[in-house]
Amino acid sequence: NRSGTAVRTLGCIISIDMDLGTRNAGFQEDKSEEPTAQITKFDSEEKSDAMSLKLDTVEEYNQIKPYAGMPKEVLLLYSSQARYKVPREILFWLTVACTLALVALTITVIALSPRCLSWWQMSPVYQIYPRSFKDSDGDGVGDLKGILEQLDHFDYLNIKAVWISPFYRSPMKDFGYDVEDFRDIDPLFGTMQDFEELLAEMHKRDLKLIMDFIPNHTSDKHRWFNLSRSGDPQYRDYYVWTDCNASNPKPNNWVSIFGNSSWSYDKVRGQCYYHQFLKEQPDLNLRNPHVRKEISDLIHFWLEKGVDGFRMDAVKHIFEAEHLRDEPQVDPDKPPEEITTEWDLHHDYTTTQVGLHDLLREWRAEMDIYSREPGRYRFLVTESYDYHEIEKTMMYYSTPLVKEGDFPFNFYLLDLPQNTSGLWAKHLIDLWMSNMPNGQWANWVVGNHDRLRIGTSAGPSFIRTINMMLLSLPGTVTTYYGEEIGMQNINITQDQVQDPAGRYNVSLSRDPQRSPMQWSDDMNAGFNPKTNLTWLPIHPDYKTVNVEAQMNDASSVLAQYRYLNILRESEMPLHRGWFCHVHADARVFSYLRELDGLSRAFLVVLNFDNEPAVTDLSSIMELPSQVNVLVSTVHTNKGKSMPKSQIQTEAGEGLLIQFSSNMKFNHNHKEQCYISEKACYLEAMGILYKC
Ligand code: GLC
Ligand code: MG
Repeated sequence: NRSGTAVRTLGCIISIDMDLGTRNAGFQEDKSEEPTAQITKFDSEEKSDAMSLKLDTVEEYNQIKPYAGMPKEVLLLYSSQARYKVPREILFWLTVACTLALVALTITVIALSPRCLSWWQMSPVYQIYPRSFKDSDGDGVGDLKGILEQLDHFDYLNIKAVWISPFYRSPMKDFGYDVEDFRDIDPLFGTMQDFEELLAEMHKRDLKLIMDFIPNHTSDKHRWFNLSRSGDPQYRDYYVWTDCNASNPKPNNWVSIFGNSSWSYDKVRGQCYYHQFLKEQPDLNLRNPHVRKEISDLIHFWLEKGVDGFRMDAVKHIFEAEHLRDEPQVDPDKPPEEITTEWDLHHDYTTTQVGLHDLLREWRAEMDIYSREPGRYRFLVTESYDYHEIEKTMMYYSTPLVKEGDFPFNFYLLDLPQNTSGLWAKHLIDLWMSNMPNGQWANWVVGNHDRLRIGTSAGPSFIRTINMMLLSLPGTVTTYYGEEIGMQNINITQDQVQDPAGRYNVSLSRDPQRSPMQWSDDMNAGFNPKTNLTWLPIHPDYKTVNVEAQMNDASSVLAQYRYLNILRESEMPLHRGWFCHVHADARVFSYLRELDGLSRAFLVVLNFDNEPAVTDLSSIMELPSQVNVLVSTVHTNKGKSMPKSQIQTEAGEGLLIQFSSNMKFNHNHKEQCYISEKACYLEAMGILYKC
């Protein structure tokens, strides 16, 4: 029976030879072909060893199809036939080639892909002064629950990043910039649970939260200060102490930002301590490694809570010279007793000391540990007023090798009202762009809780134009609460003063820019709808200047802000294209935003004068001879068409013009143009690539 099988099929001969007594389940007879010849031959060779079959006999099996379960050795004979071998080799090399091509393609795509913009580059950073935003419990002071109630406002405005001024536990001498406990929330603002709820809800809405962080000083009520003044060995050197005369406690001529000596005598310790701000805000000694450790622990504490970044307060003051020598006077002839303000001295020993940037970079590195989580980049912005020393400001940017801030606040536009004109606007913008290190990201500030509102200092007729400028410039805009509706300073009388900076000189008070947010024309402008309390007066213009009224008015400051902010996000030339200034005179400042490879581009024409102007832009070849207004700050001028040789603007009017051109201005005018995250657009494929 066995040999019978052997006679009938090749498979069985093999199974006999290998003495495998069972019939292979995969066996299939091939009935379509007549294997007689082969069988005869095998018969005559009498159980010859199949393994010894020569290759030249392979053709003789051509007519038997391979079948599942066919023994390996025979299968090998088949597989070395040309008709199997050639396709196999082709497939093999094809796979190799495809793999290599894929690897090459991946490398090319990575190499050619421009960086995606991060969240802090795509949205304005909106500053909330929490005392003034929304009061949920009717005590007249804004709070965290109030912010939670108003989050729809950010969805409406397409704002994705919010910086909240300090809400740590504080005796409120400097309204929260004097921190008593960095790990706690002041009861005036709510509880830690309120904070956590707020953060969770913000993240749910894809909103980022930037905390104010104050590394330079604490409140004099902070536990560390109490331990330090009583001489506790561990805390002795947590602050900057020196011997001084109790009756004239001025170890040197250094002055506080808020005026007068920056030294105060402490009876408990019998020494003087240094305070760059109020006497209730003693400066920490950041040369002490224990203090540095405390600060970095705090950074971890808040990052672990999930905050998305920090605004680092007053960084230039972090170190002072240890030698405590007098600072040089601006006017050397001034009697020393008249040296009382920060403007009287050159701050060679109290600001921007060696070691400052190393420290900021250390903090940055700690933040970067948390940035590694996908989609959780932690942002750092530094606050430093360097006035005429812009090179000092630029030091806060990262370098290609060492990371520091994402950007330092650009406060230079705060000077716009000094001389509102086209040339001055161009000068201030160029000042930043030409000093900014290559490849860094710009930003623009026209107001905050420390400076007068731009709507008042530049004048109400420029509010819309300034907003148009901010939202069409390259870089991130900071929007101080209320700027989106054109809020103005309030008037403050001496007896209304809340800000300690205005206690002696009402003109130095920062209260005018801190009045409650105007939500509606209801009681207290909707800021506190419950009781008749507000910590500062509401601006009398709230009946018309409020969010609710402006939401229902297509020609409002709010509607324009919102439109431009949405446009900025959707238009690549506006959020990541070239910025080229094309014209500036006493009245008008004009610039282009364009992206290589994309024909759609924008022209911005801003009139910073109290007179109308006609601007001739006919020399700009890239502009079509006739242009159309996409947005005007004068609502009725929307859609207007005019020749480029006669661009008309009314007094204080801003125009945003969209046009189409295949020529690019930046190609022939590099010296007038800047770009941060350079990329080109491939119109055929609809992608950006590095170029
Ligand atoms: C920053 C704040 C300011 C505060 C000061 C002291 O400059 O913006 O409001 O008074 O630091 O912390
Ligand atoms: Mg409240």
